Amino acid sequence: MTGNNTAQITDWNGQGGERWVANQARLDAMAAAFGQAAIDAAAPVAGERVLDVGCGAGASSLALAARVGAQGQVLGVDISEALIERARALAPQDAPVRFQVADASGAELPEGAFDILFSRFGVMFFDDPAAAFAHMRRALKPGGRVAFVCWRGAAENDWVRLPMGALKGIVPLAAPPDPEAPGPFSFGDPARVARILTAAGFTDIAIAPFDAAVPFGEGATRDAAIDDAVKMTLEVGPLSRALADQPDDIRDLASAEVRTVFARLPGEGAVMMEGAVWIVMARNPHRTL
Ligand SMILES: C[S@@+](CC[C@H](N)C(=O)[O-])C[C@H]1O[C@@H](n2cnc3c(N)ncnc32)[C@H](O)[C@@H]1O
Repeated sequence: MTGNNTAQITDWNGQGGERWVANQARLDAMAAAFGQAAIDAAAPVAGERVLDVGCGAGASSLALAARVGAQGQVLGVDISEALIERARALAPQDAPVRFQVADASGAELPEGAFDILFSRFGVMFFDDPAAAFAHMRRALKPGGRVAFVCWRGAAENDWVRLPMGALKGIVPLAAPPDPEAPGPFSFGDPARVARILTAAGFTDIAIAPFDAAVPFGEGATRDAAIDDAVKMTLEVGPLSRALADQPDDIRDLASAEVRTVFARLPGEGAVMMEGAVWIVMARNPHRTL
């Protein structure tokens, strides 16, 4: 492993991972459009080998496997045992995909083996991202490509900005976290992402914005969908962490405020909120620079 990823390993193997597994179907629905945009950017073709970093429950690995076909191969790696267990359970037997519990920043990976280094929201958690990407680059073939999707800033993402805003006046909001600390928004600054990839030895870096409406929660009626979206917001993500140590009465108040905010948003079977990501592309040079 490069850097110290212990806190992330503990979280994704503890409550964070458990809650992710419990909400897996909803979270997959939320990430689907963004993952698809990154897969389209990666443009995998039949027979290629793909490394899916921080693959979670494996939805993107399966979508990639469908693109590379039986002659290809996808390896999904993740530090969370619970999520890899879910990924293995969801994968059809004949899919050309394998899953491995591993810290991608230092795992033993076959050298020069992959055509594509891919990730759907799984590369923002490294303690030392430049070292992690330098390590993962060695697993790519010369000329191999990188394609991943990561969130832009929290202020641009209504699915976090709106519920966090609803907490104002209910709980004292903690000072904003270090924007470069490992976490979902640590790749929000494209200049930082470009610096990390350059330091790791990649070239041809291209970072493009992509926006899509995010379906939050699910339900047969609009009211049921709003209730489910509120429940999910209290279970996973930044708001759940902000409320983690709060007593029940504060959590109830916060839940009511978030519900009021969500009830103003469009959507029938889900609450629709704006999401903003970067689609990041880069290339492993043919010769080491
Ligand atoms: C936001 S989730 C995304 C999961 C999945 N790609 C998806 O889109 O549903 C981030 C994932 O990255 C994984 N992760 C974090 N640090 C990692 C590391 N150093 N090596 C491998 N996986 C890591 C977490 O366990 C988690 O499953």
